[in-house]
Amino acid sequence: MNIALASDHAGFEMKEMIARFLTGRGVDFADLGSRAGESVDYVDYAAAAAEAVLAGTCDRAILVCGTGIGMAMAANKFPGIRATVCWTPATAEMARRHNNSNCLTLGGRILDNQTALEIVRVWLETPFDGGRHERRLAKIAEIEKKSCGC
Ligand code: RB5
Repeated sequence: MNIALASDHAGFEMKEMIARFLTGRGVDFADLGSRAGESVDYVDYAAAAAEAVLAGTCDRAILVCGTGIGMAMAANKFPGIRATVCWTPATAEMARRHNNSNCLTLGGRILDNQTALEIVRVWLETPFDGGRHERRLAKIAEIEKKSCGC
């Protein structure tokens, strides 16, 4: 699996920690920024990661901002992205099992490091359940199709 990893300034430290975690587990990732010491707009990094996933250069994305909320809002504007802000390992598990999340967003100012890494681990390892959840996600895709004509 190849992960698009990005943050704004508020998520930078957590993004760096996740990068070390992924490296330690042998998970490939592309660090799309931000870089140390710059103040940036989370929207730009959500867009870059969403585009990498939709282009197929990355399989999924992990995005960190202050709360995880702005990243999720921006990433979910891209049809085909299912961004889920997760704040516990249990929400990460359900985001994969029921929602087939392809974009995890985290709050760098909200989560402690240990919880954040456990969320990442669970989100990476949990498969999509499929079945009735396919039908529900297909309805979301249908809404995307109608609203953007794509
Ligand atoms: C940046 O100050 C902060 O607004 C941003 O990281 C994020 O939390 C937005 O949702």
